[in-house]
Amino acid sequence: MARYPPDLDHWRRAGHIAGQARELGLRLAQPGMGRRELADRIEAFIRDQGAEPAFPTNLSRNWEAAHYTPSDTDAERLAPGDLLKVDVGAHIGGAIADTAGTVEVGETHRHDRLVKAVRDAVDAGIRAVQPGGAVDTVSRAIERAIHAQGYKPVVDLTGHTIQSFLLHAGKSIPNVGGYSTASLEEGEVVAIEPFVTNGDGHIEDGPFGNILRFRADPGDKDPLLARAFGRFRTLPFTTRWVTDPEEKAALKRARRLLQTYPVFVETGRGWVAQAEHTVLVGPNGAEVLTAA
Ligand code: CO
Repeated sequence: MARYPPDLDHWRRAGHIAGQARELGLRLAQPGMGRRELADRIEAFIRDQGAEPAFPTNLSRNWEAAHYTPSDTDAERLAPGDLLKVDVGAHIGGAIADTAGTVEVGETHRHDRLVKAVRDAVDAGIRAVQPGGAVDTVSRAIERAIHAQGYKPVVDLTGHTIQSFLLHAGKSIPNVGGYSTASLEEGEVVAIEPFVTNGDGHIEDGPFGNILRFRADPGDKDPLLARAFGRFRTLPFTTRWVTDPEEKAALKRARRLLQTYPVFVETGRGWVAQAEHTVLVGPNGAEVLTAA
């Protein structure tokens, strides 16, 4: 029996909003644009459309593969030649969409092939999705598309299933074959998320990327923390979203209860491109929820 989310209309709507937010971010990523302003504008768009950001907009650059979001004091501006990953999430009542694209800022056209490789890879992965089909079939299709362009997949980063309020629901979709014995079920929501590089194909932990997450409900002992948890639940968030200085201080005191995310940096300092869509496993294959 196929098990679809009961609030499927929310998943579709969140997907549409996230797809439009991604395209907005890619369009706005021009030389001179502030990183913080870019993240703020993408997230404001998501809220204007009636959704909430499912995680802080990731704006990782060049050999940063993922998990950098601007801090409240980030003053850096985009420069020509930056290879920017715009990875956005939107949710409506816990129905999450996760999607990403890559743009080379300022049309310097040094990494067109890398960007094409990752687009081909996400498309190939999506075409390989079948209800009851092996995850490994998807992984192999992604890997083949990347190798066809002469690049490497980043093997440490994977796609993932998504459930209500759970961005990474447990099933991984590797970007290389031979790692998964799982299969996809009709009604599952899956993020297909290849990363392509001209470096080593691995990542290591860099500095803190301004992204946090509650490990569990902190309870109501500290009302400021309870308020923050009420807002973010166990989804990733950033202090850029916390304007009340007392709430900020409470979060600082509660670091123990919080998971902190480092930036993922390519080990060979290779350039990294990413593409991602959230899809629903339908009766005949993938329904792309995050198309623009
Ligand atoms: Co994802």
